[in-house]
Amino acid sequence: MTTSTDPQRMERIVSLCKRRGFIFQSSEIYGGLNGCWDYGPLGVELKRNVKDYWWRVMVRERDDVVGMDGAILTHRAVLKASGHEDTFSDPMVDCRTCKTRLRADQLPEKNGVKQCPNCGGKDLTEARPFNLMFSTQMGASADENSLAYLRPETAQSIFVQFKNVLDTSRKKLPFGIAQIGKAFRNEINPRNFIFRSREFEQMELEYFCRPEQGMERLEYWKEERLKFYENIGIQRDKLHVLTVPDADRAFYSKGTYDIEYEFPFGLQELEGVAYRTDYDLKQHQEASGKSLDYFDEETKQRFIPHVVEPSAGVDRTVLALLCNAYDEETVTDEKGKSETRIVMRFHPRVAPIKVAVFPLLKNNEQLVARAREIQGALRPHLNVFYDETGAIGRRYRRQDEAGTPFGITVDFETLGEKDAALRDTVTLRHRDSMQQERVEISNLVENLLAKTR
Ligand code: GAP
Repeated sequence: MTTSTDPQRMERIVSLCKRRGFIFQSSEIYGGLNGCWDYGPLGVELKRNVKDYWWRVMVRERDDVVGMDGAILTHRAVLKASGHEDTFSDPMVDCRTCKTRLRADQLPEKNGVKQCPNCGGKDLTEARPFNLMFSTQMGASADENSLAYLRPETAQSIFVQFKNVLDTSRKKLPFGIAQIGKAFRNEINPRNFIFRSREFEQMELEYFCRPEQGMERLEYWKEERLKFYENIGIQRDKLHVLTVPDADRAFYSKGTYDIEYEFPFGLQELEGVAYRTDYDLKQHQEASGKSLDYFDEETKQRFIPHVVEPSAGVDRTVLALLCNAYDEETVTDEKGKSETRIVMRFHPRVAPIKVAVFPLLKNNEQLVARAREIQGALRPHLNVFYDETGAIGRRYRRQDEAGTPFGITVDFETLGEKDAALRDTVTLRHRDSMQQERVEISNLVENLLAKTR
């Protein structure tokens, strides 16, 4: 499946992210740190909502999954046993003309000759492997023995703690261990905004099962993960499942699917769902000399469990949500003037702000007091934003750009000044349709929680 690309759309999304405080270049005032990004006030809420929903459906709402949170600094032996120290690399070439380092497998070609995308030069070095792990020194002495790594994936600490989690949680196969956390890769070419960065977050589940259950669980998790994306507002027709061909799969994997999304820069991987067999536990058992097997009480057999792994990127999911939500439409105001409305159509479940509360006028004490009271009542339950500055239309537009699905306006009807029957009601504005309805203040919490959970 191929898709068209739209660089201008991507530029508009990046620009909105900066303008509205979703995402900033890291260390921007010092010229930026390539491949690193900082999430601003709206971005951090969006990202948190993605992680919270993942944790809710993958851990809390299931009997067969428990969570953990491993250290980022990782013992060298772990990543030696997993194969990362020797083989976690990308092929790299140098351009002798402009000295840029490039991924050998992503070079553009002209008339069959590979070129530097930076200067067009054809004088490139031979490809050589470049290990993607960040290393560091632990403790005061900087020698071979003090070498440690920043983890390149969250998965390995799950494998290494398999026995401890099994013994303490007393789970029986099949069961999973889930983790959300930072991972680090010294990508040669970080690109496409937060799509490929050097510091990013993963949401990973290692689902342990009997060998004969592996292929069936692979299918199960692929379907579960597709549902997850649909439940956060990404339509099924924007997702694509790639069956990774035998030649491209890790040698130990018996089956891998890539869940891809139609980004403005093309169809790209959001998540991998891989059947990793018993490779990881076996490697760690061999290297550590500690048993990582499972004793089946019923059959009285001992064996190393097999693993199915759905591994998603938090930042890539956030980027897919941003791309999916961004919309521009022409609207006509009450004076007949047409303008472009930029609106982030986030699913209410992930929207950074769930509801904005506006007093119609900021210099009317009663309206302000009532609006503050509503804000206070909603605050313990969901993320509320209070705004009293500017014309109401402008306030709505600001929230449209932030992707806030609901707006509450406290007006003179709320105070019962125009019609006694409307006392203690407010207008509830819906971001997507811009329709407004009159609702009772007493039902607001229940009403909004039902729509945003
Ligand atoms: N434990 C398996 C694993 O780490 P992976 O395909 O290398 O597999 C899983 O990574 C997911 O992590 C990817 O599908 C992607 O969403 C995310 N990811 C990987 N590298 C990334 C990077 N440099 N920047 C942002 N996200 C990345």
